[in-house]
Amino acid sequence: MTAYLITNVSVLGAAPTNLLIRDGVVAETGVGLTAAGAVVVDGTGLVALPGLVDLHTHLREPGREDAETVETGSRAAALGGYTAVCAMANTSPVADTAGVVEQVWRLGREAGLVDVQPIGAVTVGLAGERLAELGAMADSAARVRIFSDDGHCVADPRLMRRALEYVKAFDGVVAQHAEEPRLTEGAQMHEGEISTRLGLTGWPAVAEEAIIARDVLLAEHVGSRLHICHVSTAGSVGVLRQAKARGVQVTAEVTPHHLLLTDEKAVTYDPVYKVNPPLRTAADVAALRTALAEGVVDIVATDHAPHAVEDKECEWAYARPGMLGLETALSITLDVLGPQWDLIAERMSRTPARIAGLTEHGHDPAPGAPANLTLVDPAARRVIEPTELASRSCNTPYARMTLPGRIVATFLRGEATVLDGKAVK
Ligand code: DOR
Ligand code: ZN
Repeated sequence: MTAYLITNVSVLGAAPTNLLIRDGVVAETGVGLTAAGAVVVDGTGLVALPGLVDLHTHLREPGREDAETVETGSRAAALGGYTAVCAMANTSPVADTAGVVEQVWRLGREAGLVDVQPIGAVTVGLAGERLAELGAMADSAARVRIFSDDGHCVADPRLMRRALEYVKAFDGVVAQHAEEPRLTEGAQMHEGEISTRLGLTGWPAVAEEAIIARDVLLAEHVGSRLHICHVSTAGSVGVLRQAKARGVQVTAEVTPHHLLLTDEKAVTYDPVYKVNPPLRTAADVAALRTALAEGVVDIVATDHAPHAVEDKECEWAYARPGMLGLETALSITLDVLGPQWDLIAERMSRTPARIAGLTEHGHDPAPGAPANLTLVDPAARRVIEPTELASRSCNTPYARMTLPGRIVATFLRGEATVLDGKAVK
């Protein structure tokens, strides 16, 4: 196994030091540390962070390998500074059996670029009618702990309650895509002034807030863990704040795009801005930023949603919702939070690792810790060119924007997956 000596690097913003990575762990740290035979990585000007962990990634395999595969998505993740991603269940076939989750898990191991942790569906075929084999997926080689029908809401309160009860047995968590379907029929964008002006059917904030309010009550009643996917409204933040004050075991994520972009983008009618939940107002963005800083929203998760050209470059109403996220998430978060490295590590690595039960991830680079880490150049600025991304799809909303920060290197269990800003394999 190659040993790496990273010189003159700042761990989470601290004074520069050297880091020795050997046998899968951070072996030693210290100013002036040397190691014969180790590959030297010049860390001057770079910040070392625990490898990022994404709780919400769509890898599209099996079924839509034309949009992304486990391998191409894993490469995009490593280039974005990630060492683990949780793969959403809305594949084809749906990841609702031990067989499918084991397949995704095995493909992740074969790609070997990040740890791919499959998420299991809550209901068979994401149809919202019968519970899937939650126990069999938990007991499988993939050791599934997060269950989600993401893309669809588990709208039936009885099914939601039973899922919450079931996952308690193995400390699992139900990740809800909060969208009351009766309130969003035909919805194309955020319901507000701009949807009215454009004549597009609106997706009202209350459709998200009503489900979150219901589900925190169910989670409180059952005494189980609930996670809320892609929180997008100020009202949702209010519901979460109250629930957390009461001690409900609820966590929540926000996406980079909901921290940066607003429904004004719909004026372009460019479907690259179509996403579910939709881009909201500037007031929502401000509330989400505050909630993330305070911890009312626990983590940043990408909702990386690659789509093939024919599903995106068409009329707004026919386009699939979703945006790429893995290769730009750190840059957007850095832009939003500034160089608050400890906070970034908390929101993008430690807390998502804890929610997902990924015990090998989310550790600061310190002696004895598993060598899952990433090196960021905070001073770099880069122009996003969609065709240059490692993802098989191009649907980034940040095309030709100049973003701060660049991932220079990523290490998974002591092996470099990215060096000099390029994927190693
Ligand atoms: O925009 C979205 N895209 N939201 C979802 O919930 C699903 C996702 C997808 O699978 O494309
Ligand atoms: Zn979703």
